[in-house]
Amino acid sequence: MRFERSHSRKAAVVAVAGSLALLASACGGDDGGGGDTTGGGAKLEGRGPITFATGKDTSGNLTNQVAAWNSQHPEEKVEVKELPESADQQRQQMVQNAQAKSDAFSVLNLDVVWTAEFAANRWVTELPEDQFPDLGKLLPSTLDTGKYRDKLYAVPVTSDGGLLYYRSDWLTKAGVQPPKTWAEMQAACAKVIALPEAKGASCYAGQFEKYEGLTVNFSEAVNSAGGVVVGDDGKPNVDTPEALAGLQFLVDGFKNKTMPAAAITYKEEEGRRAFQEGKLVFHRNWPYVYALAGKTDGSSKIAGKFAVAPLPGKDSPGVSTLGGHNYAISEFTKNKATAADFIKFMSSEERQKANVEKTSQAPTWASLYDDPALNKQFPYLAPLKASIESAKSRPKVVKYGDVTTAVQAAAYDALTGKAEPKAALTDLQTKLSSLITQ
Ligand code: GLC
Repeated sequence: MRFERSHSRKAAVVAVAGSLALLASACGGDDGGGGDTTGGGAKLEGRGPITFATGKDTSGNLTNQVAAWNSQHPEEKVEVKELPESADQQRQQMVQNAQAKSDAFSVLNLDVVWTAEFAANRWVTELPEDQFPDLGKLLPSTLDTGKYRDKLYAVPVTSDGGLLYYRSDWLTKAGVQPPKTWAEMQAACAKVIALPEAKGASCYAGQFEKYEGLTVNFSEAVNSAGGVVVGDDGKPNVDTPEALAGLQFLVDGFKNKTMPAAAITYKEEEGRRAFQEGKLVFHRNWPYVYALAGKTDGSSKIAGKFAVAPLPGKDSPGVSTLGGHNYAISEFTKNKATAADFIKFMSSEERQKANVEKTSQAPTWASLYDDPALNKQFPYLAPLKASIESAKSRPKVVKYGDVTTAVQAAAYDALTGKAEPKAALTDLQTKLSSLITQ
């Protein structure tokens, strides 16, 4: 990739500087007092108040998590800077801040797909792995999302895997099992929607607004039909019959009204509300929905009436896109030592457990998925672990912003009838090939 060349030059300079530092320490130049030294030779120094930039907290529990830190660290308080709900708008604000070298954000809650871009541009600090001794206890696929060129830039705090939420009350009444394939899902819907209580409901919806969620849903459809957007060799390969079958499933869904027309405006929250209001039989969304849809305070009409299953696919169960969020330290913040401690705190097993119990967000600690008591209380943990472990990552590229914009445009044009699905994929293949040149 063009971009990465200048990065490697910088990396070489850093490496030389690193060797000189090593030489100095071999000659007795190191004061040995260390602790705060990063792998790249820079230091995580500075203590005091910090800020935490994060997308809109749809879980409702972030305030509790941050309050737990603040009560123990009165001199190093964290102020939350809440950004918009849409992933793309969060990224835009973080990028603008970084380009201005602003210190307004200390810790960044990065979507898993942004690590390469933020690391290669040196907007976030390389993290010394020895300061985060619990990394080995995280699900390996989540840890991988925090790395760029084998170096750690962000620590996974929540993971995400797509789940198929379904109305268990309606399925039971109609005598159907949760579907494993798209055809089974449609057959199940035909029976469910014939029930008087499900009258007027739509069969299925995911997220189809033109933003990152569309990239997620498009990739899942393609992968679940046996195709790829970008192959394991790192090359785009989206102009294939398999990818077309995946896109066609979504296009047909809108045409044959399996999906409600409004789903073209759905991000996560719009979809969740439709499902909670009883407008959908099946709904693709992330684990955070489980806790909210199950609330018995009157905010959800479907508490006790839904369950989750793995995503369905074309001929067999589907493939989720790997989501999640990792915490990184802005290169431009002063109090990096405090920032590192805050990340350690928020990624600890204790905080993650407290968060799962309140929010049903996916933890990154492997042990929390295997805890029998938690599994009993939260039956979504087993399908969630399966979803995350078999999930497919989006491309790990520096120009991810351009890549996702191209994917979103192609998928959106096909879904809205502006382009034929085949032509949209041919065009997307050309665009991705020029963006991802290895
Ligand atoms: C969730 C996922 C994230 C994904 C986003 C798309 O926040 O964790 O990885 O990009 O949804 O809307």
